[in-house]
Amino acid sequence: MTTTEPTTTDRVVIFDTTLRDGEQSPGISLDQGEKLEIGEQLARLGVDVIEAGFPVASQGDFEAVQAIARGVSGPTICGLSRTALADIDRCWEAIEPAAKRRIHTFIATSEIHMANKLKMTPEQVKAETARAVAHAKGYTDDVEFSPEDASRSDFDFMCEVLQIAVDNGAITLNIPDTVGFAIPTEWGARIAAIRDRVKGDYIISSHCHNDLGLAVANSLAAIEAGARQVECTVNGIGERAGNAAVEEIVMALRTRSDQFGGIDTNIRSEELARSSRLVSRLTGYPVQYNKAVVGRNAFAHESGIHQHGVLNERTTYEIMDPAAVGAGESQLVLGKHSGRHAFADALAKMGYDIKGDALNEAFKRFKELADRKVQLSEDDLEALVAEEVGDTVRYRFSLVAVDCHGGSNSTPTATVVIDAEGEKLEATATGDGMVEAACTAIRQATGIEGRLTDYSVTSVTGGVDALADVALRFEVDGHAVPGRGLATDVVEASARAFLNAINRTVRARDTGASLGKGDRPGSLGTTPAAI
Ligand code: KIV
Ligand code: ZN
Repeated sequence: MTTTEPTTTDRVVIFDTTLRDGEQSPGISLDQGEKLEIGEQLARLGVDVIEAGFPVASQGDFEAVQAIARGVSGPTICGLSRTALADIDRCWEAIEPAAKRRIHTFIATSEIHMANKLKMTPEQVKAETARAVAHAKGYTDDVEFSPEDASRSDFDFMCEVLQIAVDNGAITLNIPDTVGFAIPTEWGARIAAIRDRVKGDYIISSHCHNDLGLAVANSLAAIEAGARQVECTVNGIGERAGNAAVEEIVMALRTRSDQFGGIDTNIRSEELARSSRLVSRLTGYPVQYNKAVVGRNAFAHESGIHQHGVLNERTTYEIMDPAAVGAGESQLVLGKHSGRHAFADALAKMGYDIKGDALNEAFKRFKELADRKVQLSEDDLEALVAEEVGDTVRYRFSLVAVDCHGGSNSTPTATVVIDAEGEKLEATATGDGMVEAACTAIRQATGIEGRLTDYSVTSVTGGVDALADVALRFEVDGHAVPGRGLATDVVEASARAFLNAINRTVRARDTGASLGKGDRPGSLGTTPAAI
């Protein structure tokens, strides 16, 4: 069997052109190994046809198509070819090793393309079509023909050309909206009208570009109008604004099968996310965060109301199951819009069972941090819990504000405002660095004397907005009391850590408790004098 299994009426052939039209995107250049890797993934994804390239375009293209024809099994392997007979010969040579192969030949039918690009008369275009399709048919039964720029072609003339293609053996008529000019209702009507006008046994295909952001909508309109093949690419990559995105077409058909009369594809949708990641990585084209189906936010919820809804019942705000596209689970992103439910749920998943006042305190602090940092990761939460929730005893002092200034030309100065069980304490101090100034101001405000001995700062997560996690020791009463602080700003994190150590000291003094084991003076790192 050399042809692609034609469609039953409820199946749409997925013709993937990631490696041909997608690879024509500005700045994308895949080597043979990369093309093979994508080809293998497309086979896993379950596409019916892989358009592997344009063999006559270059020796590299030819070899890549040949490698895919040799190495990728499952889908039909297709090569693109202009109508020149030498192009078709080269195309055949490249795809011949495949078990199932297709020649896709095309010529433009719009006035604008015929006059300005081809410099051919309509009669010449008809003759070219007949000759090319008949020649391709000599190699394989599976011949596809496209009238390029179909959406801007004179309808009667285009249908004449299509009829010639069918009469010479084309079994797929692919109708390209080459410049992304079509509108869904118009496109659907054009597809239906072709079916009425062009006689014969063929499958209609739609190939839509995304210049107006309508490629997927137009492809779906074409399916509703009777098209049983769509040409598309992973992540919608392709010339200019790209092609129709395979993941969106597939999931629209599945999610709204009620609207499409149960028409489906052979795609294994659980492979969509992986295909997207692979293509993005190898092409260097990032996937926009809010991209439908495969964007990193496609199943992420940040607002408290949405998170609460999803926690109670996923379908409250999700029309697709993320697992169905291989995207794992819904994600509740912790940010400034998140609510207490999602916060408590995230902590519970991390193994922290926190309730009551401790939860309220931690949530308050979480909101403060989230206001300054776009998203909080699990690592951030872990650090926050260690700082806030690990110790549920109320401390005497809490930091209200730390304000510092100075730099290479002026002395570092810090002013701190501290709440001491309802009383406001304020002090200003200078130091060799901002951290030292802040710690001195805290010492003055609280009246607790001691020495900062060890200091280390780590960034909890990467990036410029990473949380600073400061650990230090405060040498007092012959002990080195540990302190820990967390903030997006390193001086604030240090002030919090310092105050934490002071609070522990005060509590130990008040309760007569031991400062605990491991609190003898030791070394954590360097002192912060010059920070
Ligand atoms: O957009 C287009 O017209 C094409 C054809 C070669 C099918 O990519
Ligand atoms: Zn195209």
